[in-house]
This record gives sequence, C-alpha cells and structure tokens, in this order.
Amino acid sequence: MIIRPAKRIRGRLEMPGDKSISHRAALIGALAKGTSRLKNFSSSADCAATLRCLADLKVAIAHDGHDILIEGAGPRGLRACSTPLDCGNSGTTMRLLAGILAGQAFSSTLTGDSSLNARPMQRIVEPLQMMGAQIESRDGHAPLMIQGRNPLEAIEYELLLASAQAKSCILLAGLHADRRTAVIEKVPTRDHTERMLRWFGVEVETSDAQREGEVTVAVTPPKEFSARDLTIPGDVSAAAYFIVAAALLDGAILEIDGVGINPTRTLFLTYLRSLALDVKIENASEVNHEPVGAIRVRGNSTANSKNTTRDTQTINGTFVAGVIDELPLLAVAGSQIDGGIEIRDARELRVKESDRIAATVAGLRAMGADVEEFDDGLRVSGRTRLCGAEIDPRGDHRIAMAFSVAALFAEGETEIHNSQCVGVSFPEFFDLLNAVVER
Ligand code: S3P
Repeated sequence: MIIRPAKRIRGRLEMPGDKSISHRAALIGALAKGTSRLKNFSSSADCAATLRCLADLKVAIAHDGHDILIEGAGPRGLRACSTPLDCGNSGTTMRLLAGILAGQAFSSTLTGDSSLNARPMQRIVEPLQMMGAQIESRDGHAPLMIQGRNPLEAIEYELLLASAQAKSCILLAGLHADRRTAVIEKVPTRDHTERMLRWFGVEVETSDAQREGEVTVAVTPPKEFSARDLTIPGDVSAAAYFIVAAALLDGAILEIDGVGINPTRTLFLTYLRSLALDVKIENASEVNHEPVGAIRVRGNSTANSKNTTRDTQTINGTFVAGVIDELPLLAVAGSQIDGGIEIRDARELRVKESDRIAATVAGLRAMGADVEEFDDGLRVSGRTRLCGAEIDPRGDHRIAMAFSVAALFAEGETEIHNSQCVGVSFPEFFDLLNAVVER
C-alpha cells in the first residue's frame, strides 16, 4: 500500500465492532443457554478465528449482516474437536479459550500461526494447572495440549504481570470451578470480561484490595446462564489511528460515533489531552454495561508548543497497561510534538504480534527520526520532518496502521509492505483512511 502525505482530515466515521468485546461476547455466548444476537460484531480476522474455534467445538453460529447469532448449549455444551483448534494470529482467542477448555471434561489442542506460537503462554498455563487442568506446552509456548477437568479447583491468584488476557483466562476457567475464583491485579487492565459476564447474569465482584492500586476480581460459578442479545461498541483502538492523525493535522475536523469509551481503554485520549490536543468525548451512554460515546477531534499541529518547558513527554509505570495497544502509534505522535516522547516499562511490547519496540524503532528510523531503543521502550525526538520510506510491518497490524499514520505527516510517499495484515484487527482501515484524508 502506498500512502501519500495528507493536507487535512475531515469527516464522520463509525468503527467496526470492538475486537476485545467481540471475542468475549462470542466465547461467553457459546457457554450460555439459548441464542444470543451479537450486533456489530468485529470484522477482524482475530474474531473470525474465535468463531472458527467455537464452530469446531460444535457451537452453532450464523451470520446475519454485521450480526452474529451464537447458539449456546450451556456451560457443558461444547464438544471435543479431534484436530487442533487454530487461533491464527490471535492471542486473545488462545488465552481466553484455554481458560474455557481447561474446565471441559475432554482434551483439546490449541495452536496458531508462527507469531502466536512464539508468544508466552506460561502466564496462563501456570494458573490453569493450579486449578487442576493438565497442560503440555512447548516450553511455555503453543501448541498447548489441554486435558480439561470438571469441576476445576477454585484459586485465588495474584497476577504477576498486567494482562487482561491472563485475568480473563482465569475468570473464564472460574466459570467451571467448584467455588468462587479470584484474581488479584496490581495494575488494573481492561475489564470487558467482567462487564460481559455480568451482562449474562453471572456474579462477578470487583473490590479494592488491601494494597494501594490493587483490584480483586472474583467470579462465582453459575449452574448455567441464559443467552442475551448485545451491541458491540465501535473499536476505540481502531479509532485511535484516525484520532491521532486528525489531532496533529491543522484544520482537521473528525467525529467518530458509537465508539467504546470504557475508561480502561481510553487512557490514550487522556494522554493526548495532556499534550493540549483537542480531543473530546461527547454523548456518553451505556450499552450492555459498556460505556459508548462520540469522539470529536480538531487538529492543531502546534497545540503542544504552549508547553514552554519542551520536556520530553514520558509514558511509564502503571500507565503503560492502559495504552498497551496504542504505544507504537503514540511513538509516531511523539515524533511530531515538542520535546518528543519516551516510553519505558513496556517490555511486554516485545512479545506482542511482533517485537513492537524493535519494529517501531526500525520504522521511525527509516523515516528519518532520531530514536533511541531501550530494553523496555524507546525515545524519539520531537518535531521531526519525517520522510517517506518503505516499511516492513513484520506481519503486525498495529505497526502497519501506526506507520500509515506516520506517512500522512511525511514528505513523499511511504510504502507499507504486506499491508493486508491490518485485517487481523481492522480490514476496513485503508478504505476509511481514504474516505477522510484530503490530499
Ligand atoms: C487484549 C488484551 C491486551 C491487548 C490485546 C487484547 C484483550 O493483551 O494487548 O490486544 O482483549 O484482553 P494483554 O492482556 O496480554 O496485555
């Protein structure tokens, strides 16, 4: 894909259904009794992988436009699949489904593409083994051979790393446990699983723990629960690419309606506001326990030059978990603001769909930015006049989209290789970009 620089961005967009919420809706709907209609289901390849795995476990699934109908047969309604379940590129599919399969009285194998099979799985293997499932892995990596057990033993588990996927895996396993299962999080992460379980009538308690900043989430296993319809909000992590591009382009006016504004997902907006960029949330309401609203952006390339100290803006500590998927994009934004940006405490980025620290550093350097790489992050100088370049996104959708945004600010053309990888989360990305960018 060739991307030319933008003059302005103008328009009104709606995003496809949120990827994180769609995975959870499908997985939990599959365990409910009856048919759930999931409106505005994500168009991503990742969520298609979740549906494919569920179909292989004999869940009846029908497509009706952007809606999905999931026919759940109850918590014991899944059936063994004799071949490996293919999670494709999707870490969420593998980690959340592993929690469900650990509580089934049959064995399953989970596998994925070469990127997914290289990502760390010990973070879910350990708690699931503590609950009584037998799991064989390739030294902490997929393929995972899971011999499930029903019921599982309830545990109280303190998460050693901030991961919504690990938390969700344990909570979903907790649906099949003999008692209440609790997860203690030192750093709060996205809470879609908790909200979705509550929407389906499952008892989930969230309470502040003894130590500051900690949260305990506990699920009480239900005998069974009923199907429910729901509407998936637009994906705010997909919206992020348009929001950042618009906020930094003079004269831009952009509105994104019906998008998820769950506070565990919108810390990047807080960060953009701290740079004096004009991004506003309006018309906030709730659908199926998830906050939704409209995001309005007005572009101003020099907004943050009022920050007279010209200090480097730092993202570190507990803030990182709240912007984990937006970090490559924020690094690109950092190249355009006064003082640049420094990202630290983000070692987790090295084990995403690609090593996102290395990929972001390489891309920014190719476009002429001054970048320093750290073990746990990077620093990029601000107010850089980027130049068009050839970008290898390493098969990683978020790298391809972050550098498509960088290309809008650059001089000359940028070529994104293997750009179809954006389909992992957002197949409509380039069409929507073309719809709002003026050249
Ligand atoms: C996700 C959680 C995050 C995020 C991923 C989606 C989820 O991963 O990076 O894109 O849906 O729970 P971790 O929980 O592993 O950080």
